[in-house]
Amino acid sequence: MRLNKYIAQSGIASRRKADELTLQGKVKINGIVMKEPGYDVADGDIVEVNGKIIKPISRKVYIMLNKPKGFITSAEDERNRPTVMELVSDIDERIYPIGRLDFNTSGMLLMTNDGDLAYKLAHPKNQIYKTYRARVSGQISAEKLYKLRNGVDIGGYITSKAIVDVVKQSKRSAIVEIKIYEGKNRQVRKMFAAVGNKVLDLERIAIGELYLGHLKQGHYRKLTQKEIQYLKEC
Ligand code: URA
Repeated sequence: MRLNKYIAQSGIASRRKADELTLQGKVKINGIVMKEPGYDVADGDIVEVNGKIIKPISRKVYIMLNKPKGFITSAEDERNRPTVMELVSDIDERIYPIGRLDFNTSGMLLMTNDGDLAYKLAHPKNQIYKTYRARVSGQISAEKLYKLRNGVDIGGYITSKAIVDVVKQSKRSAIVEIKIYEGKNRQVRKMFAAVGNKVLDLERIAIGELYLGHLKQGHYRKLTQKEIQYLKEC
């Protein structure tokens, strides 16, 4: 971590002030004055400011991001595609996504540096329901709706019950809201494929009782205390 960020995260100064302190010779690394604000603090380095040893406080951060299509949900991509990390690059803490969305899916992605919560929510036993809005090709008949609601074969796995409603049916496509309680890879796309409809657009609009609301694509906001509490308790 860069020295100025390290100092800022210890809570004693802003990054700018940290740079000033460094240039003034008030910062030591392992007992030796360090005047380079860009110094990369290594594990085990002892950082002193004005003669006092400091340590960064690891603040827990909880973010709701509205992921646009065309971003990959991981820290890096071997094909050099844009990643969701680029959309939260102004957050100092090292946060990571809870779960994932396909490259071509938009909508709610939660990110945090709270390993306990991320671990808990990722566990199949604690799967929290997720709501998607899909635009699909063709018509959704009553029979298809029944199948989607009661379980379809998505390649060796029969999906559990889901809440599915047709919001709008046009001649060539339909808008469908679907709430699922499990999170198999590309599940929604596979469920529609199983009944013969192609997903044209897919957006995750809610995770449990957390709603995307008016959060714009590419933007993020911090979760409220109430929302954090909700996730911890569900
Ligand atoms: N289901 C999908 O098919 N894709 C997603 O990104 C999320 C759920």
